[in-house]
Amino acid sequence: MNLRTRKTVITCLLCMFAASLFAQEVPLLGNIYGRQYQSLNGKWNYVIDPLENGYYDYRLMPFEKTGFFENKKATSPDDLVEYNLDTSPIMDIPSDWNSKDERLYVYEGTVWFKKDFHVTRKPGVRHILYFGAINYESKVWVNGKKAGDHVGGYTPFNFDVTDLLTDGHNFVVVKVDNKRSKDGVPTLNMDWWNYGGITRDVMLAEVPETYIEDYLVQLDKNNKGTITGWVKLNAALEGETVTVEIPELKIKTQLVTSSDGKASFQVKAKPVLWSPENPKLYEVTVARGSELLADQIGFRTIETRGPEVILNGKRVFLRGISIHEEAPFREGRAWSVEDARTLLTWAKEMGCNYVRLAHYPHNELMVREAEKMGLMVWSEIPVYWTISWENEETYRNAERQLHDMIYRDRNRCAVVIWSIANETPHGDARDNFLRNLSLYARSMDNTRLISMAMEVTAAQNYVNRLEDNMNEYVDIVSFNQYVGWYRATVEECKLMKWEIPYNKPVVISEFGGSALQGLHGDKTERFTEEYQEEPYKENLKMLDQIEQLAGLSPWILMDFKSPRRQLPNIQDFYNRKGVISKWGIKKKAFYVMRDFYQYKEEQFR
Ligand code: GCU
Repeated sequence: MNLRTRKTVITCLLCMFAASLFAQEVPLLGNIYGRQYQSLNGKWNYVIDPLENGYYDYRLMPFEKTGFFENKKATSPDDLVEYNLDTSPIMDIPSDWNSKDERLYVYEGTVWFKKDFHVTRKPGVRHILYFGAINYESKVWVNGKKAGDHVGGYTPFNFDVTDLLTDGHNFVVVKVDNKRSKDGVPTLNMDWWNYGGITRDVMLAEVPETYIEDYLVQLDKNNKGTITGWVKLNAALEGETVTVEIPELKIKTQLVTSSDGKASFQVKAKPVLWSPENPKLYEVTVARGSELLADQIGFRTIETRGPEVILNGKRVFLRGISIHEEAPFREGRAWSVEDARTLLTWAKEMGCNYVRLAHYPHNELMVREAEKMGLMVWSEIPVYWTISWENEETYRNAERQLHDMIYRDRNRCAVVIWSIANETPHGDARDNFLRNLSLYARSMDNTRLISMAMEVTAAQNYVNRLEDNMNEYVDIVSFNQYVGWYRATVEECKLMKWEIPYNKPVVISEFGGSALQGLHGDKTERFTEEYQEEPYKENLKMLDQIEQLAGLSPWILMDFKSPRRQLPNIQDFYNRKGVISKWGIKKKAFYVMRDFYQYKEEQFR
């Protein structure tokens, strides 16, 4: 056996030994949808457990072996087992539990989930259990043995569970806890529903012992005639051959990994550039031996030049709309490609070339669909309102969510902006927290723009001033303002002056007002469609005067659930700022935006 083979065998044996000690969280599998996997979506049993009785004993000590994760069954008539995961109710997963069981409508606490599945074990094959997202804290066991924990409700994670599996029948148990916390990310309060559960796709991926962990393929930031990137294996193996192919561009490049298991490349190329007008995607394959990952990747450049946003070297106006991950035509969280197509088609009908996916990373299918449909994306982590700025663990949580958001979508050319916060109060601790997040985002990805939704800092005598210490850490100065809804009057829009002392593009990340779809009346009557129409009309005239204006994402495409909206017969736990109702009916304000974007499109043609 030559030295290299011996090293490979030893590395593999060490990996198997480490993994056999316990299952472990492993770096996210890039492009999960392009891999070999069995879906674990479908029917899961669930147990509502408000006192976490399935995890703690009566002295609040965690069970070692006898918790619900053991999935125990009574085997004789006098056995005392006070739960049964097999005969507990069934929930279709992915889904939020709030919309699936009326006992869970506003529930915040623990629900246990269990899924039986079959695996044929094969030598040299590892099994990675992948969750698209679980809100908010999860603990995972396979066949009663711990696979791992995760915190954060909107980003994926995965565990190598190979050594927990048996050949044939297996079961996975997940403890989900969606309780909010002061030190969480987000914190205790937010203006959206705290949907709990396994809210996105679940898969069991099959990979070889040594596998392609992740890769990056993108247009060189500084040279549109070069495609650049890298491929990384899960093991630090030197001398491994990997191939990157883009058939339509007649590119096939063979790479050899260095001692860290990674290989970089640069190839000359003249791809058709991705744009909203022509969302061109190329088939890309990354292969090593029998392992082959297929992806669809677009190539473009995004930068700023003074107050302009430049896409592929040409100035662009971001004709956007904000979107929550709220399901159209039904209660609950959106998660499917159908949900994505519906929401994004409505954005296209408005004349959008850009969407602000608020206030947390949306599911991967939504981002991929935006890419196919020619919509640029603002993607955001839920550092929202009054976070615990001084808490180190809170920062680590935010940074982990930022990492995972970028890690998952860095091959998605549609994503042009990473947003690190929304409406956060000024202060030294907040500035420090956000500066570190901004520098971290730049260190992970210096090819995209960084922003955050700021707030107007002073408004006297119709002079609105925006000053924020974070201005030097963002590429785009974005802020939310609600003249004509939360402050001042619609008539005062035309008196407003805006002072934004930065030579950077300005995006108004939120403006608008509420209306109950179908409620009509005088335009002075709150919550009528006629009232909502006015702030749209007058804000657009006012905002279009801002000389650095480079884009808009009014709040919001569709009505969404919020525990902060209690007005009977008007809100009923819905924030009604949508320009479309949950049932797909467009309000008058929708057409105001559509007409404005037609004008903007012609202006920037
Ligand atoms: C804020 C906030 C949104 C919220 C909106 C509103 O700007 O960013 O999350 O829903 O205002 O009050 O409707």
